[in-house]
Amino acid sequence: SSAAPEFRERTLIAVKPDGVQRRLVGEIIGRFERRGFKLVGIKILQASEGILANHYHDLQRKPFYPALIRYMASGPVVAMVWEGHNVVKSSRLMVGETDSSQAKPGTVRGDFSIHISRNIIHASDSVEVAEKEIGLWFHGAELIDWETKDHTDLYN
Ligand code: PPS
Repeated sequence: SSAAPEFRERTLIAVKPDGVQRRLVGEIIGRFERRGFKLVGIKILQASEGILANHYHDLQRKPFYPALIRYMASGPVVAMVWEGHNVVKSSRLMVGETDSSQAKPGTVRGDFSIHISRNIIHASDSVEVAEKEIGLWFHGAELIDWETKDHTDLYN
């Protein structure tokens, strides 16, 4: 697209298995759309052991790691790539604190989750991590570089 680089920041958002089971996919997509971000990739998938091991590589030694992997493999995940100005930072605020009990009302976790181990959604925590995660979850051809245009010509 012709947008300036600062408007082309991207992040990986994943609706985790509990979010999919609870039919929160549309609610979550709606929040990102209404904020003004652009959806450039989306799919539903059963995450493989390989993808999850890579995604959570840095947490391998945490006591909750086995349970986290079991949870993330317990059902399908909806993986998305959203684009826009400061999308990484803004998404983290929209998602809320990792520990749901600390998440403010108005955030996804603050509105829909009560426990850190069923926290509904993932959002990349930096631009560098986002690039890595997008490369892990998506093939380049699955990301669509579309332009915003108006369709008011229909009414002229
Ligand atoms: S963060 O938000 O990335 O800074 O959070 P962090 O504390 O580093 O946690 C990284 C991911 O581990 C998950 N997590 C847990 N899962 C289950 N039980 C416990 N106690 C727990 N603590 C952290 C947390 O949800 C983060 O996963 P993602 O997918 O990034 O949300």
